[in-house]
Amino acid sequence: MGVLKRYCDRLPVTDKTPAVNLEEGSTPLVRLDRIGGALGVELWAKLEGCNPSGSFKDRGMVLAVAKALEDGARALVCASTGNTSASAAAYAAHVGVPCYVLLPSGKVALGKLAQALIYGAKVIAIDGNFDRALEMAREAAAARSFAMVNSVNPYRLIAQKTGAWEICESLGRVPDIHAIPVGNACNISAYWAGYRDFREQGRISSLPRMFGFQAEGAAPLVTNEPCPNPETVATAIRIGNPVSADLAREAVRDSGGEFNSVTDDEILKAQLALAKDGGIFAEPASCAPLAGLIKLKAAGRLPEGATVVMILTGNGLKDPDTALAQAGRPVKIGSSFDELMEALV
Ligand code: F0G
Repeated sequence: MGVLKRYCDRLPVTDKTPAVNLEEGSTPLVRLDRIGGALGVELWAKLEGCNPSGSFKDRGMVLAVAKALEDGARALVCASTGNTSASAAAYAAHVGVPCYVLLPSGKVALGKLAQALIYGAKVIAIDGNFDRALEMAREAAAARSFAMVNSVNPYRLIAQKTGAWEICESLGRVPDIHAIPVGNACNISAYWAGYRDFREQGRISSLPRMFGFQAEGAAPLVTNEPCPNPETVATAIRIGNPVSADLAREAVRDSGGEFNSVTDDEILKAQLALAKDGGIFAEPASCAPLAGLIKLKAAGRLPEGATVVMILTGNGLKDPDTALAQAGRPVKIGSSFDELMEALV
């Protein structure tokens, strides 16, 4: 059951809202005992890479697109570091409207670029970073009356709250710590709003501490100033001026959480650890939280025995280049049994 149907009573859907559905949401929440054991916590991972376009973006996109159709939109437009464009392009194709996506040229992972193109979006690569692409997309939306489906679209944030609702429903309780990568800062804000909804409805009695993790080269919420030239291997969160910065600061402050940054090297090590010790392949940006938890543990700042949920925002298959650069290579042999025996060590 997709997000709009599963949560129809809690989302702004009416009789007039088209029932858009790619069976997004209801993603697995997996307990990682080997990694959690080493960190001294009960660690859970929410596999948002299991969404139809391979990232968490589908949760918010389904509502944004349904509402755009309800309002008679002619076309969709967005800027993206890759996943928003993949998601927008998928839903646009599903419902049959044109989609225009603006990407920072040369800085989008291969799988995401392939997705936007194969779904039939018009892909425009700009000579500038995501922050500039977002400004241009907003101007284009206004000039052409296209529906803007970046997270400045309020429906994105509203429907991304479903991730928090699902966590509470599957765990049957609230995590002590919610660990999440932060780029444009919509998702951390949405999760916080989702947890608060559940507390207001009396479905949970406490709230998690929100821990937001950024890449060191793109960490405006850690340094507390915009970063004019963001740079990181985690291209999904290569963002210098987050649109939802204020909401994210509020979430971290009100929850007693914190923002931290991690280096590219720490992100890549965490990606490898998650794959080898957890059996989960997540894209680099999604591994910033694990890198951060490892760092907090080393500093003696990770509460022993805490229940921690980390959001693995995107599938590792989206960025094969980065994975292959650190994962090693196949062992090449001929076709004889002897060679095979030698290789089996
Ligand atoms: N993780 C992944 C895999 C992402 O693609 C993004 C954002 C984030 C984390 C950060 O989420 O922006 O809500 O703080 N990707 C956007 C995009 C910017 O264009 O795909 P956020």
